[in-house]
Amino acid sequence: MPDIRSQYSDRHHFFGRTTPGALAGEFGTPLYVYNENILRQRCREILGLSGLPGFFPCYSTKANGNPGLLRIIRSEGLRADAMSPGEITLLRAAGFSRDEICYVCNNVSEEELAFAGENSFLVSVDSVAQIEAFGRVHPGGEIMVRLNPGIGAGHHQKVITAGRNTKFGVVPEDFEAMIAALSRHNLTLAGLNQHVGSLFLDPSPYLDAAAWLLETARRFLPLKVLDFGGGFGIPYHKYDAEARLDLAETGRRLDALLSAWVGETGFSGRLIVEPGRYVVAESSILLGRVHAVKNNGPTRYVGTDVGFNTLIRPAMYDSFHDMEIYSADSSPRPPLPQTVVGNICETGDILAKDRLLPEIRTGDLLGLLDAGAYGYSMSSPYTQRLRPAEVLIRADGSARLIRRRETVEDLLRLVAD
Ligand code: LLP
Repeated sequence: MPDIRSQYSDRHHFFGRTTPGALAGEFGTPLYVYNENILRQRCREILGLSGLPGFFPCYSTKANGNPGLLRIIRSEGLRADAMSPGEITLLRAAGFSRDEICYVCNNVSEEELAFAGENSFLVSVDSVAQIEAFGRVHPGGEIMVRLNPGIGAGHHQKVITAGRNTKFGVVPEDFEAMIAALSRHNLTLAGLNQHVGSLFLDPSPYLDAAAWLLETARRFLPLKVLDFGGGFGIPYHKYDAEARLDLAETGRRLDALLSAWVGETGFSGRLIVEPGRYVVAESSILLGRVHAVKNNGPTRYVGTDVGFNTLIRPAMYDSFHDMEIYSADSSPRPPLPQTVVGNICETGDILAKDRLLPEIRTGDLLGLLDAGAYGYSMSSPYTQRLRPAEVLIRADGSARLIRRRETVEDLLRLVAD
């Protein structure tokens, strides 16, 4: 099948020995397609951030919790962070041991804190109230506390998780109250963590915040864990050759900070980073089918089966996902501004607005790039549409189903008579 716009996936042999058309024919659309080689490559890049013996990268499961991918990530040597009992369950199903899971939660029940304490090597809470709750279920235990370094970063206000405008972390003014709560429950402060936000391409805020945590931690030594959080960004504008985060340079600077501090303090515990997006985003292309094209005034609407129930990032954060076009019809396709939309009953159900792309026609397949992080994991059954299937293109180029499409029976399963 000649492809109208596919240089990116061609260059990366993304679809292995198969094609978008064959995958759509066998598994239907919408369909999340993952590439094992790309996933492994990204894991290795993260592992290369620091050579310190205590360096302990934990993949952030919230980005994508498919056990088929988690097994690959673990086999590359990453450990994991979880934030819900469901994520712990998927991690355990994928082979992660208790000692390989770190739990970073906020505003949860005592029941959940009890479960998390039994199923992870350390639980992080982010308020004095949650220290008290943890103390009631694990008196005399070890705990990690999430601090707010006052420095935030991220691609949208909604994902900046440090500084004043966020619910996260214990601020320095509350350190005395934190220490008092720890001692009331005879808890040992075993770790400190933070997460400044999601998606930076300039590492400076992350490194400034890391320096802040290292400095702050001196006051609380001895500790077993220091966790600097995630946020490592990827370039979404693939067809505009957007520059990548310079991970080698980021690693050199991070490693220098950590090495100096370890040298001064003699720290021998775990130094954690928690990348989610960086590990999985680029390993997936989301395939969708065009079912209708029409003009409404000056706007050409391209109607697809990828609603915001399947990929919510554009509707929720105005996020940009680059787009490929695959078609059997190879007649000339002049570039046109087009608005690509889904099949949900809301005007905000938009994947791309007035985007200049080769003319898209009914029957074409579209590929939304960089869909691996916060794609399937944020999908929903809104309007009772079925969640899509997920397929992995293995290292040998063959395709394997790693999650079947939902069925209407699945919708009925939870309903009481
Ligand atoms: N650690 C903690 C405590 C987090 O809250 C997060 C993400 C991460 C690590 C991983 O961050 P990453 O490396 O993936 O940036 N749904 C949004 C992103 C929300 C991120 C939430 N927390 C999106 O689609 O852009």
